[in-house]
Amino acid sequence: MRENNKAVYISDNLAKVAGISFRFSTTDYSLSTNDSSVALLKPKRFLQYYEYLIFEHNVKNVVEFGIFEGGIGVFLTSLKKDLRYLGFDISSPVVGLQNFLNCHGDIGQRVITHFNVGQNDSRVPKLIDDFLEGEQLDLIIDDASHQYFETQKAFELSFPILKEGGCYVIEDWGWLHWGGYEIPVHWKHSQALTKLVFKLVMLCASNPEIIAEINIFPNMVIIKKGKQKISGDFGLECYIRRDIISINETMLSEPDELIKDLNAKLDGTQLLLQCHKAELDTIYGSRSWKITKPLRLTRRAFSVFNLMIRRFTSAREG
Ligand SMILES: C[S@@+](CC[C@H](N)C(=O)[O-])C[C@H]1O[C@@H](n2cnc3c(N)ncnc32)[C@H](O)[C@@H]1O
Repeated sequence: MRENNKAVYISDNLAKVAGISFRFSTTDYSLSTNDSSVALLKPKRFLQYYEYLIFEHNVKNVVEFGIFEGGIGVFLTSLKKDLRYLGFDISSPVVGLQNFLNCHGDIGQRVITHFNVGQNDSRVPKLIDDFLEGEQLDLIIDDASHQYFETQKAFELSFPILKEGGCYVIEDWGWLHWGGYEIPVHWKHSQALTKLVFKLVMLCASNPEIIAEINIFPNMVIIKKGKQKISGDFGLECYIRRDIISINETMLSEPDELIKDLNAKLDGTQLLLQCHKAELDTIYGSRSWKITKPLRLTRRAFSVFNLMIRRFTSAREG
């Protein structure tokens, strides 16, 4: 296959490109790829968007986190003859995909997969560099864990490699907020991906030379790379000015720290009080205290007498 193609959408779950069937769904994880048909976990409108994007921006090199059954790699390479795809997935290799790629030589050469490699794996930048062989990276799609820490790490590892003007897409970022979506039980304690989106928004305002533009949709955020070259270890917090997310975290943790501090002070004060009480008990119980009691009483009587004289004098002078 050496010409560009168009997708023909047969229904909301089936499309064809150059004789290849693509079955897609957002919920049916039982879909699988075999020799003649390819499975995708995306809605139709995502496929239409990517089809538009790769031709509009003449995309040649794509990286995806979250291969699943290899659907988007095969879809994009079957649409555009000079497009190459590199995918990462934490799971084991997919036999059906491998069989499909073996049967479709031209696509098979342009779809490269790294299974058993997580999106936050430190080998990712080197594997991308090897794949690019000096060419530019046009598009990154993150459709992997949808977890805050992993997604941020994948961004930090791969965004520096993206070309100026290239797009970084994070799919399904809004899962915490979607109506009618049942959050998986094992995600119940996960941090919202929303937090990363807020950080990216702050980064865009802080440094438009890194993120030139950011477009947020309910199911997708598209980040356009600015012209600044980022080298070495990229930590996005370093480039955010007045990070209100981190400030909030500090504010949230502050009361805990404060309570701990106050409890420690209280313990110290109580101990001191006990010591003083013990000292006083010793003094009150001592013989000398008892012997000097008449002296103390006389001194108190004199003080009262003095006070009365002073009041009487000042009343007469006034
Ligand atoms: C929603 S599916 C991807 C669907 C696929 N992009 C498509 O369009 O057909 C999510 C995939 O991400 C993978 N995944 C989950 N956590 C990951 C991680 N931390 N790193 C890489 N891949 C991960 C899963 O094994 C799964 O195959």
